[in-house]
Amino acid sequence: MDYTVMIPAAGSGRRMGAGYNKLFLTLGEKPILVHTLEVFEKDRACTGIVLAVKPEERPSIQDDLNRFGITKVIGFADGGSERQYSVAACLKAHVTGGIVLVHDAARPFIRQFVIDELVSTAAKFGAAIAGVKPKDTMKFAPVGIVEETVDRDKLWIIQTPQAFSFDVLKEAFNKAKADDFLGTDESMLVERMGHPVRIVESTYDNVKMTTTEDLVFGEILLQRRQQEDEK
Ligand code: C5P
Repeated sequence: MDYTVMIPAAGSGRRMGAGYNKLFLTLGEKPILVHTLEVFEKDRACTGIVLAVKPEERPSIQDDLNRFGITKVIGFADGGSERQYSVAACLKAHVTGGIVLVHDAARPFIRQFVIDELVSTAAKFGAAIAGVKPKDTMKFAPVGIVEETVDRDKLWIIQTPQAFSFDVLKEAFNKAKADDFLGTDESMLVERMGHPVRIVESTYDNVKMTTTEDLVFGEILLQRRQQEDEK
């Protein structure tokens, strides 16, 4: 089943401490952003990529697209001050229907089988998000004193991609805007409409490159992927 993907890439990378957009940092020979784009470039079901970028970074991103042969970018949107606004700009400018994925530019290690499962689940049910089960014991402690040990079998750590049918996502963004609601992911906007969101089990290596330790991990993951591809 075909889909389009919106990729917010307009963050500042403050937690990475690089002093510039962390997506320009390289893993192996390529910027993190290029690794992420290559996943969708290779997936035949992906019919187009919409990128939210900072206007001043667009020329260097366009250079990278040319240099690394990324051909599926069908549009750019100006990134906003919050991730949700960056995604909203993509949705408004360039997406008109079908199944729509949202995926963090900073998650280059998403697996193809997870994308496939998300797309088919969203096509059936309207909304599906990637997640993994916590490995550690989970405590509820709002002020640093444990109130409860939470049953971790009932919890999920949520990642991207998050996949939706266009109509569901559009309505959710319209409602969030009308209510001035800011969520930490797209699913929250859909959940508050009362629409069920299904979780698709993802992999622990779909990490978001957030701090410098993630880059060390990222280099190892990249080597492992390259070895898998050679087999
Ligand atoms: O900051 P964080 O890693 O949570 O951001 C997740 C993704 O959202 C990144 O790919 C980042 O570039 C993007 N983002 C954005 N616009 C913002 C903030 C983050 O496009 N205002």
